[in-house]
Amino acid sequence: MDEGLLEKAKAAAQNAYAPYSGIKVGAAVLAASGKVYTGCNVENASYGLTVCAERAAIFNAISRGEKKLDRILIYTDSDKFVNNLPYPCGACLQVMAEFSDDMNIIIANKSGVVKEYSLKELLPFKFGFEK
Ligand code: THU
Repeated sequence: MDEGLLEKAKAAAQNAYAPYSGIKVGAAVLAASGKVYTGCNVENASYGLTVCAERAAIFNAISRGEKKLDRILIYTDSDKFVNNLPYPCGACLQVMAEFSDDMNIIIANKSGVVKEYSLKELLPFKFGFEK
């Protein structure tokens, strides 16, 4: 793991718009092209419209023409998460599964803990159609 994903996800977290939860999350995704795209969580007064950092990063990559994603790193400096780690939510896992068969998911926090999983470990079955 090193395409500068941790530093890029940390920098993206600085831009988080999180006036309601106070939780700043950043994500950096490595696409098959070798380029890295970032995103942060963007909250809304209508809470359900909030977009997670992972999805913001993935939509950024796809919007720029990427078709496949290899790896994503998710970072937060918040200590409010279960087990102190920002595991991706189910909605974000489903979005990852749209653009990768089994991407690498790296989770990091301010204590320097880094955990690595495969997408299939966190989402063994996805909702999907035969292509
Ligand atoms: N959040 C993320 O950005 N990624 C996750 O994996 C889980 C949660 C954000 C959404 C919201 O702004 C805040 O964290 C609290 O749920």
